[in-house]
Amino acid sequence: MGYIISNLWKLLNRVYLVHSFFMTFCILFDILYLVKFMWKIGNVEIKNRLVLAPMAGVCNSAFRRIVKEMGCGLIYAEMVSDKAIFYNNQKTIDMLYMTDFERPISQQIFGSDKESFVSAAKFIYENMKPDIIDINMGCPVPKVALRAQAGSALLKNPSKIKEIVEAVVSSVPIPVTVKIRSGWDFNSINAVEVAKICEEAGASAICVHARTRSQGYSGKADWNIIKLVKENVSIPVIGNGDVVDCFSAKKMLDDTGCDAVMIGRAALGNPWIFKEINEFLENGVIIPKPSPIEKVDMCLKHFEYLVSLKISKVAVLEIRNHIAWYLKGLKGSNEIKNKIYMTRDIDEIRSILINYRKELE
Ligand SMILES: Cc1cc2nc3c(=O)[nH]c(=O)nc-3n(C[C@H](O)[C@H](O)[C@H](O)COP(=O)(O)O)c2cc1C
Repeated sequence: MGYIISNLWKLLNRVYLVHSFFMTFCILFDILYLVKFMWKIGNVEIKNRLVLAPMAGVCNSAFRRIVKEMGCGLIYAEMVSDKAIFYNNQKTIDMLYMTDFERPISQQIFGSDKESFVSAAKFIYENMKPDIIDINMGCPVPKVALRAQAGSALLKNPSKIKEIVEAVVSSVPIPVTVKIRSGWDFNSINAVEVAKICEEAGASAICVHARTRSQGYSGKADWNIIKLVKENVSIPVIGNGDVVDCFSAKKMLDDTGCDAVMIGRAALGNPWIFKEINEFLENGVIIPKPSPIEKVDMCLKHFEYLVSLKISKVAVLEIRNHIAWYLKGLKGSNEIKNKIYMTRDIDEIRSILINYRKELE
């Protein structure tokens, strides 16, 4: 009997030792993982190096939810106008809707003067409590950059940049970041100067879309600008422009030393890109591309999220673009797109997609 008890005791000790060893290993693994992939903007912890770009007309709560489900680390909401918030424009106020599931989330504001930037930032903070406020200094569209002298037009005015960033930073108790372009045009590339000004003014991070305003969205992004900015500031730098898959994401991180990569157009109709890049960066695994059926299923899910978020007229109009993106290149997709453009009826759109899915089986 004594022999059995002593052996049982020894066995229990061994189990305990193995268990402790295993637990220590797990904790060490978790710490290593956090050190390697987690980063912070101010006090906001971000679990991986992937950021969804703000995209007007795209990055509402429905799309953001999908992207978050695919593992995106930090989400930017589509830009809102400071003036529209100042004048209580209901459509703009509705655009501010966000859910806890999307956190950490950054709300971007565009504008041109300090006072309305501050009042918009305060309103957004008090009503929505985003984790971060971002200032848009990159928008190239004439309505914003020329007529309103906002977005990328601010890049031409360094003293105004300082004034705006300082004022917004001191008006809200959350981190404030700035999204810039390389410069206004090829003769005025000033991203490094602007980034330094933003840092001095209290910005907690800077995002660089490595194209000039005059390039719009064409030409190639010059990642060297991102590298230069990273070398010249101490706050985190998010690199942006032409990340299209796991390889380009890794290349941008390696070549520029940036803290995270921001993905815009490559996520349209392809929210899987966040999963693809995460798997590659974290485990070195290349996951298979989504099948046509998976694409239709994602499209249906996106549609349901939109329907629960927006009035039906708007949901129908918005899903049209997404359907074109999700189904691009699929067999018979042109006919489906045409059918969807012919109707404004939610049930009809749903059944067109479900029938298309059956055809693909
Ligand atoms: C449809 C669309 C809407 C955009 N809206 C915004 C915006 O609201 N704010 C902003 O800073 N940039 C906006 N951008 C620019 C993107 O955030 C991003 O900087 C740009 O697309 C480059 O990244 P990419 O090469 O990954 O697409 C928009 C881009 C697109 C295609």
